[in-house]
Amino acid sequence: MTYQAPPGTYDLLPERAQVFNSIRQSAFELFGRYGYLPIETPVFEQLDVFVRGIGDATDVIGKEMYLVLSQHALAKLAQGGKAPEVSSILALRPEQTAGVARAVVQHQLASPGGAPVKLVYAGPMFRHEHPQKGRYREFRQIGVECLGAAEPSADAEVIIMLMRFFAELGIPRDRMRLLLNSMGDDSCRPAYRQQIQDYILAHAGDLCAECVRRADSNPLRAFDCKNPGCQTIMADAPLIADVLCDECRTHYDAVRAYLDAADIDYEEAPRLVRGLDYYTRTVFEVQVTEGLGAQNAIGGGGRYDRLIEDFGGKPTPGLGFAVGFERIWLVLESLEALKSANFELGAPRVFLATVENAARPLAFELARQLRDAGISAELDHQARSLKSQFKLADRLKAAFVAILGPDELADGKLTLRDMATREESLLALTDIVERLRA
Ligand code: HAM
Repeated sequence: MTYQAPPGTYDLLPERAQVFNSIRQSAFELFGRYGYLPIETPVFEQLDVFVRGIGDATDVIGKEMYLVLSQHALAKLAQGGKAPEVSSILALRPEQTAGVARAVVQHQLASPGGAPVKLVYAGPMFRHEHPQKGRYREFRQIGVECLGAAEPSADAEVIIMLMRFFAELGIPRDRMRLLLNSMGDDSCRPAYRQQIQDYILAHAGDLCAECVRRADSNPLRAFDCKNPGCQTIMADAPLIADVLCDECRTHYDAVRAYLDAADIDYEEAPRLVRGLDYYTRTVFEVQVTEGLGAQNAIGGGGRYDRLIEDFGGKPTPGLGFAVGFERIWLVLESLEALKSANFELGAPRVFLATVENAARPLAFELARQLRDAGISAELDHQARSLKSQFKLADRLKAAFVAILGPDELADGKLTLRDMATREESLLALTDIVERLRA
């Protein structure tokens, strides 16, 4: 029997794993400059955390959740036992905002009126979607959540930080569209939702069955339907921008003013609704114009001023975003930006080559000293000939090869070859660490 990674998942082999680490590190450094501190939450949570946070009428909850069943629960079910209590059903996280909100409430991290709590995370998320380029069942997100700030400057800060992140990764500005909308709040959205529901029912004959079915539970999702007929009908549907209440309008205008002042180009996207129910007011998404096909969103987020209360916390406004690592990878690959020196792909600084077996213990000891001094070093563990050690050093892209030959060693020396220039120099064994540190 041969084993394969499950459909929609893949192995992060070393090259890609290093790019992920490097992107993650850049994100944590950049977001750290804005005050974000790392948080890790469990990869699985009570199912109810996601249902409550994301909303049971969304595709993510309604269709895409992976439930986690213990051996014990499975055996009980197989014996015709009762279905498990709802509170004991666990699920893999489809995103991390809900888990972070749960943790913030559980540990009382945010206090009303206190300074915002700013958190950054990175890790795998799971959604049972139809796999295709840029859409996986296990994928990796890097995200931030800022809890406690209601002012529009907080929205603008988060969006500016997101765009700065993509710029630092080397994605050209003209390859990206930043879409911006306001989803309204509890005072203006219900009436808008009703308007859309009425609009869908009035056009039921021309819309797909799924849009009509969801008219009741989640009418705004009709804006995201991929069916061309539905898109034509929804293009004429009422827009939220026309019915925002005064507070939401003022907030939205202030976010735009901050972005304008910071020279951030955005497009107003009055039909951008996003697929998660917790959003209030500002929502945004960054899409790339080439290289990703239909799955062109490399990041998205928004404000969720009710979420912490929904988890039983004190009223605490919040907002954040998440970016998709795999989609960023695909974009960088299409730009050939991965080949640039931005990503340290782990070539050793020096390869220690021995001419005779007797020198192996010395090579072993020198490698230890170099690594302890913070210099990456590699050596042969398979008694290769000198020629194959050089081949290996070449393949590993070692910057230098240190040759431990009997004549040099008799004088307490070694030969150091610069693999780029082919220049060789004789060096005291005791000087190698200092020389390679330079
Ligand atoms: P989201 O838009 O569902 O938002 O996901 C954010 C990003 O994750 C997407 O823009 C995309 O790059 C990536 N992504 C989503 N699904 C997949 C998939 N199946 N395969 C590959 N990449 C995917 C959220 O998850 C929110 N929690 C963001 C947020 C944080 N809002 C407020 N705070």
